[in-house]
Amino acid sequence: YKYKMTNDNNKNILVTGGAGYIGSHTVVEMIQAGYTPIVIDNLSNSSVESLRRVQLITGHEVEFHEIDLMDEQALTNLFQTRTINMVVHFAGLKSVSESVSKPLKYYDNNITGTLILLKVMERFNVKNIVFSSSANVYGAAQKVPITEDLPHGATNPYGKTKMFIEAILQDTCASDPEWNCILLRYFNPVGAHPSGLIGEDPRDIPNNLVPYITQTAIGRRKVLSVFGGDYETEDGTGVRDYIHVVDLAKGHIAALGHLYTKPGCDAFNLGTGRGYSVLEMVEAIRRASGREVPYQIVDRRPGDVGVSYADPSKALEVLGWKANYNQLDMCEHAWKWQSQNPNGYDITAVER
Ligand code: NAD
Ligand code: UFG
Repeated sequence: YKYKMTNDNNKNILVTGGAGYIGSHTVVEMIQAGYTPIVIDNLSNSSVESLRRVQLITGHEVEFHEIDLMDEQALTNLFQTRTINMVVHFAGLKSVSESVSKPLKYYDNNITGTLILLKVMERFNVKNIVFSSSANVYGAAQKVPITEDLPHGATNPYGKTKMFIEAILQDTCASDPEWNCILLRYFNPVGAHPSGLIGEDPRDIPNNLVPYITQTAIGRRKVLSVFGGDYETEDGTGVRDYIHVVDLAKGHIAALGHLYTKPGCDAFNLGTGRGYSVLEMVEAIRRASGREVPYQIVDRRPGDVGVSYADPSKALEVLGWKANYNQLDMCEHAWKWQSQNPNGYDITAVER
């Protein structure tokens, strides 16, 4: 990467939602890059076991505080007792479908939680933040590959929370040149750490394609429903820009480095620039696992777009970052995680 740590006082990074899927992978990369992550999470969609595994991978203790972002007092106490240099903000609820049925829960947790975080940061003069945004903000984009300047048009409450938080961060930066915000718009994060020790552990039936496929391959689910076979794509199924979660995690290290240059507010797509169809992902996981993945083509899922993939060139030019893992790596690592941890982080099932 272009940017390197320069002095030790700058090492402490508050990681909200750091026990979650993308957060835990990013904590590994932070430690390996010489940062000191301080993780907070309310464990509403994760388990501290992920951080114990991070310690196994890195050989470093991870500082963890069970704090809900809605608890301003607890957050204030943390800022009072710890020196925090920058914040990487993952904490949020992320199910598109649940956000449609429970919009107030999403607006409250994601937006109020972020507002409380920003107010506490401002009070303690911590004015550098990396934010987990989503390709969902583009809605049905006018063209692919998607560039950062395309208009926003999220079509569900989850995506709107990302749009609104981006606007809040932009306004905050515009009001005060000391604020710096990097908005990272993730495409479709998949896969797991190559060790197979950490990965995605959905609490319920997975909404997302890859965990659904790996759970089908291992026999936890009977059959994958492929949502739509009549899109204008080569095989008729939806196309997405799947990105290995470790590449995505490394994008945050590049973003932290960029924050040291005081860039104001800037947004970046994190994707590979290449799309794969649902059936191509099914085939790749069949190969990686050696297991059959029964599927049936059903109706389109409401709200889905046919094709979405990134133009990731801005991240390469400005952050010096690009994705390196390929589709087979993503599928092999997703399978390694799934097969070594058939019940996710539920270690009562198998003790390693
Ligand atoms: P995740 O659910 O595994 O991680 C989010 C973490 O935030 C969880 O550990 C959860 O317990 C925590 N959390 C939620 N609300 C909180 C609160 N009020 N206080 C403290 N902790 C709270 O999800 P992830 O896939 O790791 O996603 C991380 C971020 O990236 C989210 O903001 C998500 O919206 C965004 N994102 C994810 C994807 C994806 O497909 N996984 C795509 C685009 C953007
Ligand atoms: N799909 C199926 N069957 C399933 C699940 C998904 O066919 O059981 C298809 C979808 O129709 C889509 C593709 O697989 O074509 C990917 O679907 P995901 O649900 O895995 O991902 P999405 O692209 O819908 O959305 C994901 C995250 C969002 C995030 C977005 C960013 O869920 O939070 O990527 O692009 F905003």
